[in-house]
Amino acid sequence: MGNIILIGMMGSGKSTIAHALTYKDYDVIDTDVDIEEGFGQSIADIFESFGEDFFRDMETDYLKGISSLHNNIISTGGGMILRAENCEYLKSMGPVIYLKGSVDTLYNRLVNNKSTRPLLNDDSLNERLKILLEERTHIYEGLADIVITVDEKSVDEICEELYRKLS
Ligand code: S3P
Repeated sequence: MGNIILIGMMGSGKSTIAHALTYKDYDVIDTDVDIEEGFGQSIADIFESFGEDFFRDMETDYLKGISSLHNNIISTGGGMILRAENCEYLKSMGPVIYLKGSVDTLYNRLVNNKSTRPLLNDDSLNERLKILLEERTHIYEGLADIVITVDEKSVDEICEELYRKLS
């Protein structure tokens, strides 16, 4: 199977699900965590000091670096899919799972937890999420081998659905 790749918006639960899955002999890679640790700065600080394009370059470089690895559950930053080059890498690395959440679900999960996410710091959160979803949904859906709706589902239910759909 190579790897299992989780894509989706901020707040869709990629990191939580990556850690909850119990595939034997699979490790979890969280691209945001590795980029922050590798660079020694938080994503919020990277955006503030160097801008979004710089962060997107870091994502591409990072992905290139791990593209030949196997047996990982990879939780990607929500915007990893914005570059076509990244989508090609992700597709080649294993089945891609889109964790799809509605604006309401994402809003409820992010409303008290958005300070670390620079793209959510302006405007109203609801509007921001709508705009990002409008821009990205077709990319997430076009790239995904499997789509799992996360609205009103527990972590266990999402994992069970994922095991079923991957088997
Ligand atoms: C981003 C999502 C974040 C992080 C950065 C940008 C995005 O990751 O990579 O703040 O563009 O959607 P999470 O999806 O893990 O929150």
